[in-house]
Amino acid sequence: MRLAAVFAISAALIFLTPQSYAADSDVYALRCVICHQPNAQGVPGMYPPLAHSIGPDLQLKQGRHYLIQVALNGMTGPVNVNGIIYNGLMPPFAQLSDAEIADALNYVLTKFNADKLPKNFAPITAAEVKHARATHDSPTELPHERASLLSDLKKAHLNDGAAR
Ligand code: HEC
Repeated sequence: MRLAAVFAISAALIFLTPQSYAADSDVYALRCVICHQPNAQGVPGMYPPLAHSIGPDLQLKQGRHYLIQVALNGMTGPVNVNGIIYNGLMPPFAQLSDAEIADALNYVLTKFNADKLPKNFAPITAAEVKHARATHDSPTELPHERASLLSDLKKAHLNDGAAR
């Protein structure tokens, strides 16, 4: 009987462990989904959508920089996304590894922005994230950085129909 119980417990552990670790590799599901939602559509007025939205940012080097800075440092202050003003507080994720930050952003970009990515799209790398950590753009500065990025994309006709 005791042996059977031990066997049952170890079988349960073997069954459960890989499941909980499997979720760990999906950084978006663990860290971002609660606000930006499983389909990255956000919650209107509270959490901005990331789907069909941030892809064109990658047309410019400053856009790669902006996205990495938001993920590392968080953001607060008014931003206009698809005509809706968000003035929320995204927490910083600097505690995640370089690879995890790159993972979360690449997931949103490739899964939900494939139609808006530049033709020469190159995924964000852990090395870029590592490099970006030295800059520390502040959460209140980032809405301004975003505004000048969007205006530069418009000037260069690179916004590619993204409504933001
Ligand atoms: C607690 C809620 C919350 C979580 C968790 C969260 N975000 Fe955000 N995110 C926000 C809010 C709120 C904003 C807008 C901030 C503002 O109003 O200035 C935002 C903005 C963004 C933007 C800028 C969008 C744009 O249009 O420029 C990106 C990119 C982003 N988040 C990515 C992520 C990623 C990646 C994660 C997970 C690592 C994440 N967020 C986790 C709430 C959250």
